[in-house]
This record gives sequence, structure tokens and C-alpha cells, in this order.
Amino acid sequence: MEHPTLTRLKQEANHAIESFLQRYPQGVADGLYDPVHYLMGIGGKRLRAVLALSAAEAEGFEAKKAQPAALAVELFHNFTLMHDDIMDQAPRRRGNPTVHIKWDENAGILSGDAMYTLAHMALAEMNSENLPPALRMFNQTALEVCIGQQSDMDFEQRSDVTVEEYMEMIRLKTSVLVAASLAMGAIAVGANEERVKLWYKAGEQLGLAFQMQDDLLDVFGGDAMGKQVGGDILSNKKTFLRLHTWEKANPDLLGDLKKWDKIEGQPMEKVEFVKNAMIECGADAAARSAMLDYVGQAMSALDDLNLSDTNREWFDFLGGLVTQRTS
Ligand code: IPE
Ligand code: IPE
Ligand code: MG
Ligand code: MG
Ligand code: MG
Repeated sequence: MEHPTLTRLKQEANHAIESFLQRYPQGVADGLYDPVHYLMGIGGKRLRAVLALSAAEAEGFEAKKAQPAALAVELFHNFTLMHDDIMDQAPRRRGNPTVHIKWDENAGILSGDAMYTLAHMALAEMNSENLPPALRMFNQTALEVCIGQQSDMDFEQRSDVTVEEYMEMIRLKTSVLVAASLAMGAIAVGANEERVKLWYKAGEQLGLAFQMQDDLLDVFGGDAMGKQVGGDILSNKKTFLRLHTWEKANPDLLGDLKKWDKIEGQPMEKVEFVKNAMIECGADAAARSAMLDYVGQAMSALDDLNLSDTNREWFDFLGGLVTQRTS
């Protein structure tokens, strides 16, 4: 899906990333920055950076003014991916080997740590008036993402996770950063507290939908997604799809699902079986419908911001992008 604003802002984000990373070149610091360049170089939608730049523009300022915020949220996001891939034992990212496979886990941990610091260094370039509230939001967000990631891992071992718990877990691991991307873009151009809160609220709903689509793609997305298909099934992740399936399955099917749960390793038969059970129980349709509700709520939250027609049309496009994306 293309849109002139998407092309323009993604390009702006990529230029900003390139020129920022030039200060930390490959080959120096014992190769510490090499995985950073690698992960940033193999693609990515740059959604969080684009959101920060978009909010700044929608507030009536040049996107450029939100560049430190855009860089911070995008670098932070990529740092979480580097560590997440170790935690999830994921072999592929953006159609390429993950950092811990290409190098090793220690490289992924340490380069991730460096990237987290780089995110703060980028943010520190925001003007001194807006930096304190931006930094407060950034740090609060980072801590919440850790809590969400902790729950995500804990839930792998639990079989009594509820949909409410799942929603709170994805709010923390994913939504708060989507929300902070919009809110920090607005903070960067001096938007008042009330408007910052409205941006945050819209982003939070959009982020829930975003993670639900991520979970759908994990099972149904195929190769275009650039990640291992069925990784969530292999790790017994407690996604909406899984919770719905276990709730709807008849006793026979549930018995089989419980057996597959105990099977470790990477059997593709497990992915196939659980995927078919999900379809049989209507989990994909239920997840899609819940996801569309969250996008609807995000779009209603935007109403209160009274955006110009051009900006509103752009955010409507973004809402569609979140649910129709294939990677
Ligand atoms: C993947 O994020 C991690 C989630 C929070 C679901 P993206 O799907 O935005 O990944 P990239 O940056 O475009 O590769
Ligand atoms: C990622 O969730 C959330 C964070 C990175 C904080 P996932 O584990 O589902 O993301 P992918 O699918 O690996 O991109
Ligand atoms: Mg994960
Ligand atoms: Mg993962
Ligand atoms: Mg995922």
C-alpha cells in the first residue's frame, strides 16, 4: 500500500536514521555497532518514526522538528526487536537472519543495549523546552514495554490466561510505544497537554490493532512477513487466536491441542495442526473483527483532535495500513 505522505515521511525517517548512524560507524568500538547497522539496514516499515513525524505535521509544524523524537522511537523499537528475537528464539527478521543467529546472543544483547542508549542520544537533541516531558514519556514507555515483554514470556508457561490479560499484555509490549510515537511527535512541537493525551489515546487503540495483526500474520501471513511462520504457535504464545481457539474447541480437539502444547522443538506438524484448529474455531475471523473495532476506536479518538481534511485522510489511510499490511 502506497500513499505520497507515507513515501515522503518514510524517506525523511530513513535519511535521519542514516545520517544519525554515520556518527557510529561499522567496524569501530570492536564491531559493537555492526548489528545496529545490520538490523536498521535490512528494512522495516519505520512506522513509529512516521507516526512521530505525522503528529508534528498534523499539529501544523514541519516534520523535521520532530526528528529527535522519530529517531528515538524507531531506534528504541529496533532495540526491542533485537532482544525480543533472542527471547523468542526467532531465526528470521525482515527476511534475513536475526542478529543472534548472524552473530551470537551476546552480540544481540550488547548491541541492543548500545541501541537503547543511541535512542536516548537522539532524543537528547530535542529543544530544551520540550525535552523534559518527552523524556518522561519515553522512559515510562520503555519501562512499560519491559513489563509487557515479561508478561508475554510468563504467559508461555500459563494455560489460564484471559483475553483481558492478553489485551493488557499487548497494550504494554506494543501499544504504549505506538502511542508514545504520536504523543512525542506532538510534544516535540509544543502541543498542549490535552492534545498530547488525545494523540496518546488514539495511538494506544491503534497499537492494540497493530499487535493483533502481527499475531494474525504470525500464523497466516506466510513468507512475505519476513519472520518464521508459526513462531507464536511453537512457543505456545497466548495470543487472542489461541485463547479463542481453546475456548471454542470441542473436548476432542482440546485434548489434541493440549498434547501439542507439550511438544517441544520446531515441528511444522504442530503449526499446521494448531493453525487448522484456529480456522475451525473461527479464531481468525474473531481476531480480525476485534482488530477492526480497535482501529475504529483509534479513529474516533482522532475526531477530538479536529485535524485538517488532508491530515485526517492521511490518518485514515494509516488506520487501514495497520490492518491490511502483509509485513
Ligand atoms: C514488529 O514491529 C514488532 C511488534 C511490535 C509487533 P513492526 O511490524 O513494526 O516491525 P518493522 O519495524 O516494520 O520490521
Ligand atoms: C514484539 O512482539 C513486541 C516487542 C518487540 C516489544 P512479537 O514478539 O510478537 O514481535 P515479532 O513478531 O517478533 O516482531
Ligand atoms: Mg515477543
Ligand atoms: Mg518476537
Ligand atoms: Mg509477533
